[in-house]
Amino acid sequence: MAFMEWKDSYSVGVKEIDKQHKTLVDMINTLHQALLDKKGLETQKPIIDGMVQYAVDHFATEEKYMVRFKYANYATHKEEHVKFIQKAVDLKKVSDSKGFIVTISIINFLKDWLNNHILVTDQQYAKCFQDNGLK
Ligand code: FEO
Repeated sequence: MAFMEWKDSYSVGVKEIDKQHKTLVDMINTLHQALLDKKGLETQKPIIDGMVQYAVDHFATEEKYMVRFKYANYATHKEEHVKFIQKAVDLKKVSDSKGFIVTISIINFLKDWLNNHILVTDQQYAKCFQDNGLK
């Protein structure tokens, strides 16, 4: 069983975004597996770098639609994205400078954040996006 399982309740009803969320879940699982396998920094670092870049790209996708559809909660949603990216960049900086090895508490943070953000904050734009023709 994977560390983090995709559930239908995560779906926002937009294929492009669901696909991106699934990829983020896969990345967390890959990072978790690397930890279980006691893989070193040379394995973990590219996964972390890839995840940070993918999250940035994913947030840009959502924000593009929020702006296009004049989504009412755009500012507060974007604020959550900015905070996550800051945390991810901090993680990456430590990794770059100290040969940091990812711990289970950090992976749990990533999992909990993604769970809460997709299940609560992202669900709030689902109707707006769908009403504007995304599916
Ligand atoms: Fe799917 Fe708002 O991040």
